[in-house]
Amino acid sequence: MPSAKPQILISGALVWAAAEVKQLEEHYEILVLDSPDRATFVKELTTGKYSNISAIYRHNSSAGAVGFYDEEIINALPSSLKYLCHNGAGYDQIDIAACTAKGIKVSNTPSAVDDATATVGMYLIISALRQFYKAEITARAGKWDQGIAPAHDPEHKTLGIVGMGGIGRALAKRALGFDMKVIYHNRNPVDPSLLAGFPEGAITYISTLDELLSTSDVVSLNLPLNANTRGFFGKKQFNTMKKGSVLVNTARGGVVDEEALLDALESGQLSSAGLDVFPNEPEINPRLLANDKLTLLPHQGTCTEESQHKMEALALKNIESALTTGDLLTPVWEQKGKL
Ligand SMILES: *[C@@H]1O[C@H](CO)[C@@H](O)[C@H](O)[C@H]1NC(C)=O
Ligand SMILES: *[C@@H]1O[C@H](CO)[C@@H](O)[C@H](O)[C@H]1NC(C)=O
Repeated sequence: MPSAKPQILISGALVWAAAEVKQLEEHYEILVLDSPDRATFVKELTTGKYSNISAIYRHNSSAGAVGFYDEEIINALPSSLKYLCHNGAGYDQIDIAACTAKGIKVSNTPSAVDDATATVGMYLIISALRQFYKAEITARAGKWDQGIAPAHDPEHKTLGIVGMGGIGRALAKRALGFDMKVIYHNRNPVDPSLLAGFPEGAITYISTLDELLSTSDVVSLNLPLNANTRGFFGKKQFNTMKKGSVLVNTARGGVVDEEALLDALESGQLSSAGLDVFPNEPEINPRLLANDKLTLLPHQGTCTEESQHKMEALALKNIESALTTGDLLTPVWEQKGKL
């Protein structure tokens, strides 16, 4: 017997929002993706047990078994499927154009990741400036502070934020606590209402990226990976940065041309860097690993219980909103005005 309740497919990890799932179960049937591989998943979507699902919750951990939600998967989704609700701020693992062409609405979880990711950004700024990684491994090697030279304070340095979204603003708030001067670049200045919580004049818009790069002591990348940003930060951008400045990346590794980054570090154009993301995760380029001036983290941006709970809950709230009103709460910008 087909179920009368609309079906929601859980694709990937859903760990912290058990109470929210229980509530959804009153009105929806929850199916959990257990297809061992992509071919089986495609079959189960077209003729099998997932052929009447209305919405999908997606966490990237499902990529291990079924891969990314690329054109092949999107095209295999049944016609009953109207909403794809992704747990994550970045959704480069989903083919948005293919979804739009099929009339499938996609959401992400922007605000839920802001604090945790910005804290990683601030940590990387501090660690890169103060050289805490090198100091710690020296201590752990039983060498106390041998070879550790005085480093740099964040105070009164200029932080240039590339991409002033929610994470960028949460990072600005932290940096102001360290008396950094905060400037940012976006295509357009952000709506003043979004900066209402900041002291008057605390944050300055810079209309060109080059000007931001040439005046910042620390540059933080806080923009999404998409066709426009892939590999866009390369040799020209590093050469425009101040000599001896610092790059922090908590966005996506693919935004940066890694060879150009390595060259800039080796030539001293950059004095240090803090990286939470890499182009080919889980691999880290051995030349980065060999450089003890860098602070490197294994994509810890949102790795807190609180943040993961918020992300799961927001993805599920998007599903609930969509199935009751037809509208997602946090739709991806590419579909605004299109669906
Ligand atoms: C598909 O799901 C809808 C509810 O979303 C239900 O009304 C319909 O009977 C189901 N059809 C089949 C074939 O399972
Ligand atoms: C998504 O999962 C794939 C496969 O496990 C992994 O290679 C990739 O780094 C993940 N991406 C993100 C942004 O977590």
